[in-house]
Amino acid sequence: MTEPVVIDKGEGGMERARVAGPRGEAEIYLQGAHVTRWQPRGAAKPVLFVASRAVYAPGKAIRGGVPLIFPWFGPHATDTSKPMHGFARSRPWRVTATDSAPDGSVAIELGLDADAATHAVWPHPFRARYRVTAGDTLVMALEVVNTGAAPFTFEAALHTYLTVSDVNTVGVRGLENTPFIDKVDGFTRKRHGSVPLTLTGETDRVFLGTRAACVVDDPGLRRRLTVDKTGSASTVVWNPWAAKCAAMADMGPDDWRSMICVETANAADDAVTVAPGARHEMTATIRAEAL
Ligand code: BG6
Repeated sequence: MTEPVVIDKGEGGMERARVAGPRGEAEIYLQGAHVTRWQPRGAAKPVLFVASRAVYAPGKAIRGGVPLIFPWFGPHATDTSKPMHGFARSRPWRVTATDSAPDGSVAIELGLDADAATHAVWPHPFRARYRVTAGDTLVMALEVVNTGAAPFTFEAALHTYLTVSDVNTVGVRGLENTPFIDKVDGFTRKRHGSVPLTLTGETDRVFLGTRAACVVDDPGLRRRLTVDKTGSASTVVWNPWAAKCAAMADMGPDDWRSMICVETANAADDAVTVAPGARHEMTATIRAEAL
């Protein structure tokens, strides 16, 4: 029998955990605790999208899968020389636990603790634990503990890139009547209507105060993808569309068509404040169903 969790060298010689059980398998790069693949047994098509020109290199976030965004979302609020989307996605994490469950799923837990490098860009003592469980579903649980003596506030996102047949033809349910910040329209605050969200151009929206699951209906792949969540009040939907995609070195020219990001987040108004000694957990659960 093969080991449920094996650490090997992945693309670019980067350390990678391969998690495999009877119900599904996954790959997680230790840099960024970055899930790049999850495949439930029997699924024909990849669920997570990875760009055709993704770069696997130290200090660079991989384009695709599930970048783990922490402790700020987007550019830093006051210092744009600090890394976009925080430091967690480009720091080395370590494996803190693994286990197999009776239902055939396999879990790996990774840890990142405050150190001199994190303190230099974010002056708060913290402990982060990230548990990824691969089986019939993919469950990603991020726990952030305040190990210091003062409260801190953070943003986070499980920046999930989903594979779709053609982003022009998919619909996203679950964001009806929800307020959002439209980042491609000068951060204007708007409200989505009572219909499923469809994309017709560059889209970068931070939906606020929404704890609902999202369902991506994909008629082309005859598939429905569900992103369920807990501990998350924001959902971000992003697709760069053709022109922005063409300007991104780690995306192939047509890659934008076959992806949509539906991100489980706490961002902007939904940033989380954690008291000393307290913890916060955010989870995302991905499910793929053939139609
Ligand atoms: C999204 C943001 O979550 O991530 C976008 O809302 C951003 O504004 C996108 O462009 C990709 O970010 P990055 O840093 O991975 O290129």
